[in-house]
Amino acid sequence: MDPVRFDYGNLMAPNVEGGADAAALSGSLAERFRTAHASVEARRATGDFGFLDLPYATETVDRVTELADGFAQWFEDVVVLGIGGSSLGATALKEALLGPYWNEMDDEGRDHFPRLHVIDNPDPFTFRRLLDRIDPARTMFNVVSKSGATAETMAQYLVARHWVEAAVGSDKARGHFLFTTDPLKGVLRQIGESEDIPMLAIPENVGGRFSVLSSVGLLPAAVCGVDPRALLAGAAAMEARCATAVLSENPAGLLATLLHQADREQGRPVHVLMPYADRLRPLALWFQQLWAESLGKAVTLAGEVVHTGPTPLAALGATDQHSLLQLLMEGPHDKVVLFIEVEDMDASVPIPKRYPGIPALAYLGGHSLGALLLVERAATAEALRRAGRPNATLVMPRIGPEELGQLLMLFQIATVFGGALYGVDPLDQPGVELGKRLTYGLLGREGAEVPEIPDSDPRWIL
Ligand code: PA5
Repeated sequence: MDPVRFDYGNLMAPNVEGGADAAALSGSLAERFRTAHASVEARRATGDFGFLDLPYATETVDRVTELADGFAQWFEDVVVLGIGGSSLGATALKEALLGPYWNEMDDEGRDHFPRLHVIDNPDPFTFRRLLDRIDPARTMFNVVSKSGATAETMAQYLVARHWVEAAVGSDKARGHFLFTTDPLKGVLRQIGESEDIPMLAIPENVGGRFSVLSSVGLLPAAVCGVDPRALLAGAAAMEARCATAVLSENPAGLLATLLHQADREQGRPVHVLMPYADRLRPLALWFQQLWAESLGKAVTLAGEVVHTGPTPLAALGATDQHSLLQLLMEGPHDKVVLFIEVEDMDASVPIPKRYPGIPALAYLGGHSLGALLLVERAATAEALRRAGRPNATLVMPRIGPEELGQLLMLFQIATVFGGALYGVDPLDQPGVELGKRLTYGLLGREGAEVPEIPDSDPRWIL
């Protein structure tokens, strides 16, 4: 397996003012990381970080494969219903490994695997359009919710269940559903058990945004022919690489420590993830949620009020060279750019030599679209360096399941190291609870407090 590599030279002094130097890397930062590593190890020992064990969960893979290769292949369309950590990972895997236009390809183009739709937002327009395009008799819904109670997902489930029942009758309808949820508790599990609906378990100690390598992400990917074992092999390799407490040898440690240092010591809290491949755009959105929801916290683990955390921003090269780059180059010195380069884009599109007399076009001929992207990333990194703007590059040899497994594990481990460095709990999300409770009250959920929303002195412009 070819390893994902991390080039962090442009985060260091003298390329960047305030950047770490070699002495810090083997001295103060190495020490800081050793402490963070020890606290992650301590929590791992108590079973808190279940995502680290997912690469070795062979029973899960067997069950996923059984359902994906058997039951799911009866259907033409598979629809994942989930939100946040229950959908972003599946979307990242779908786009990276199946590529663009999967659902538009004919059966042969898809190797006779089903089409795959991941619906997160309960936007009625999107949902209606989807239902208008698919055949209820040939559609399976994979309802994914760890809690089994998330309003958006449960509402979509109720709509989908009703829609399928209207078409195939209530007896047959339950055969169109697969639930992915908590192994022991929650309403979804109760319904699944009482109605004998097939279910996959998300381990108790694996939360939403750390669940991409559990049945949450593996099932949708496997349904469309992705080998879950290859994904997990990549993740296992990265997990092994990131086990060391020696900073200079630990890619996730370096990523977390240098980004944390950029935020806290250089005033650069905005962390931009910018892959140079369309297929990795949803991966950047997955990272955005992981970094934001895990590290943006009001209080430390010791109870001190800090309101801390970096601000992740998903971007795309080369598209955002014509959008965000001006700000990255010349705006406030508050950002770090993390590029993802794909060495082998795996679909060579040569640029033909035409218009030899027009220099503005002639130079392009003889290269390829992939080479153009590679060169543009290198040029942008150098331009940022010359402007004193920190940046780093993760290099993927290619976009395959093993490489993606490595990257997903790298980011998740960096996130728990980040939690230790910021001193916060990366696993909770207390800030999203209040809005949820207010929604329940406003929609009349039994037992929920009906909120009084004070007149907020609105000012309208009409
Ligand atoms: O990362 C998280 O924990 C959240 O984003 C959840 O995944 C999201 O809120 C959906 O929760 P659930 O899977 O319980 O429906």
